[in-house]
Amino acid sequence: MYQKAKQYLLGSDVDDYDLTALFVIEHVCSDTYINLLARDEPITKEKEAAVFLALDACKNGMPLAYALGTAMFNGQMYAVQQGVLIPRPETEELVAIAAAVIDCDINSHPSIVECGVGSGVISLELAKQFPRRMFRGWDISHRAIETAQRNMASMGLDNVVFSQGDFFDGVPEWSSTDNVIIVSNPPYVAEDEYQGLDRRVLREPKEALVADKHGLSIIFQLVEVSIAHSAILLCEIGCNQRQRILESFPDTELLVIRDLTGHDRFLCYVPSQRGGIQRFANALGI
Ligand SMILES: C[S@@+](CC[C@H](N)C(=O)[O-])C[C@H]1O[C@@H](n2cnc3c(N)ncnc32)[C@H](O)[C@@H]1O
Repeated sequence: MYQKAKQYLLGSDVDDYDLTALFVIEHVCSDTYINLLARDEPITKEKEAAVFLALDACKNGMPLAYALGTAMFNGQMYAVQQGVLIPRPETEELVAIAAAVIDCDINSHPSIVECGVGSGVISLELAKQFPRRMFRGWDISHRAIETAQRNMASMGLDNVVFSQGDFFDGVPEWSSTDNVIIVSNPPYVAEDEYQGLDRRVLREPKEALVADKHGLSIIFQLVEVSIAHSAILLCEIGCNQRQRILESFPDTELLVIRDLTGHDRFLCYVPSQRGGIQRFANALGI
C-alpha cells in the first residue's frame, strides 16, 4: 500500500511524497506503519479508498493537515478543519516563551488572554501546563471557536473560555483585572505579499493571515491595548516587521526575540509597573 500511495503522488508538487503517503496511511488506519507492517494484514477496500481520497486532496493543493483533519503541535494532536489556520512550528516557540513568563510571574496570579485562538493551540498548551490559571481567548471566526472548543473537550481541560468575537471588543471584560498577559499569533501578512504565498497557504483563511497597514494593524492594536491596560504582551510578528514596529512606538520599551531559524519573530512588552523587560530577562532568554 505504501509503495502504491507513493507512486500515486509521484510527479505531483506534493513536497515530501514519502512522508505524505506514510502519514495518510497511518492516519486512515489509526496505527503506526511499523505496527501495520508487523500485522501484515491486507488493507480494507474502504480504507484504501480513504487513503486515495486524502492523497487526491493533497495532489490538488490541499494542505495535508486539512486532508487529515489533524495537525501535530507541541507533541499533541489537534483537530483542524478548512477555515481554521493550521498551527505552525514557530508558534510552539511562542508557547515556550509565554510559559516561561507565566512561570516567572506566577506569584502575581496572572490571567492570560489570547487574541485570535484559531484551533486553540496556544491557550490549550498553556492551560495544560498551568491548570490553576484561567485562560480566555477570542476569535472572530465561528469555525475557529468551534474547533478550539472541540480540542479543549478532547484534552479534558476546564480552565479555558473561548468566545467568538473581536478580541478588542472583549477588552472591557478583562481591563479591570490585574496582571493580565496577552498572547497572540495575530494575522500579520501584508495584502501585497498575500498572493505570492504558497498555493497551500492560500487554502487557509485569508482573515487569519492578512492584516491592514502592511500586516501591522492588529500588532499595533495589541501594543496599544497592552500599554493602556498595563498588560504584558507576547506576540508573534512577521520577520521583516521589527523596524516598523519599534519606530512606531519610540517611547515604549519593546523587545523582539528571534525564532530558532534566526528570524525576528516574537514581540515582547512588559510595562514598567510590572518590572519592565529586565524582570523577565531569564524567562525571555536575554
Ligand atoms: C494567525 S491565526 C492564529 C491562530 C492560532 N492562534 C495559531 O497560532 O495557530 C490568527 C487568528 O486570529 C483571528 N483574528 C483576526 N482578527 C481578530 C480579532 N480582531 N479578534 C479576534 N480574532 C481575530 C483569525 O480568525 C485567526 O483565527
